Amino acid sequence: MRFKEKVAIITGGGQGMGKAIAEQLASEGASVVISDINPETANEVARKIESSFQTRASSRKTDVKKRDDIFDLVESVNKEFGRIDILVNNAGICSLTGIEDLSEEEWDEMLNINLRGVFFCSQAVTPIMKKQGHGKILNMASLAGKVGGVVVGVHYAASKAGVICLTKSFAKALAPYGVNVNALAPGPIDTAMTQVWPQDMRKNFAKQTPLGRFAQTEDISEAALFLLSDGARHITGEILDVNGGLLMD
Ligand SMILES: NC(=O)c1ccc[n+]([C@@H]2O[C@H](COP(=O)([O-])OP(=O)(O)OC[C@H]3O[C@@H](n4cnc5c(N)ncnc54)[C@H](O)[C@@H]3O)[C@@H](O)[C@H]2O)c1
Repeated sequence: MRFKEKVAIITGGGQGMGKAIAEQLASEGASVVISDINPETANEVARKIESSFQTRASSRKTDVKKRDDIFDLVESVNKEFGRIDILVNNAGICSLTGIEDLSEEEWDEMLNINLRGVFFCSQAVTPIMKKQGHGKILNMASLAGKVGGVVVGVHYAASKAGVICLTKSFAKALAPYGVNVNALAPGPIDTAMTQVWPQDMRKNFAKQTPLGRFAQTEDISEAALFLLSDGARHITGEILDVNGGLLMD
């Protein structure tokens, strides 16, 4: 029970990676707050967690594009639970739109959710974690943020590169307060985000991956749990590749 008595917020926790990380944290004792723009899926995940594990779970409707939603979320969780030990900045969108077709609206939407949202969620928990003298922030970056998008749009890749730099900047700023800030840089994962990709593209990725398959959410959530655990206490500013060997640097 590595996370007993820990309180975790997971943004975009209503499905996919966020749901997998929330369930695994709860299975190891954490109280979890499932925050998502979709209140139905967030509530479903919270109810399922409460019936499966002996822990607390609640849900919040939060649009990470909206700074006020974010600050309401953090304030209400701190009030309800009296602490915030873990923030998983997981909410995100993806798009395959090419350079010449990319509109101003689509660029803004991508950056507002994937990068600006991560900044304001991290900003909102900062005074709480500083005061506690501990905390863990984990950001979902991406392989595309390290090498540039191959199939995904330049706006997605740029947003994730921003997340990588933001992770390192927060890690430096919060290290004196005992707060660890890290990121995962996964390759493609089998979630709704990639299930809309053409089948041959998914097969190609699996073929090109040295470990020979498309990642499932559990392949990634194990790595997330390690970075959130006390075992990773001396790791901060790390961008951990979890990509089956697609990138080795
Ligand atoms: N699936 C992949 O191949 C892959 C690879 C690398 C990184 N990632 C990253 O992992 C994270 C999770 O992705 P996933 O694959 O689980 O995708 P997903 O589409 O299955 O889930 C994303 C979740 O984020 C929520 N969300 C979207 N916009 C939001 C907003 N404005 N405010 C709050 N919540 C919002 C959605 O409702 C959904 O529950 C994302 O940041 C994604 O970029 C995914």
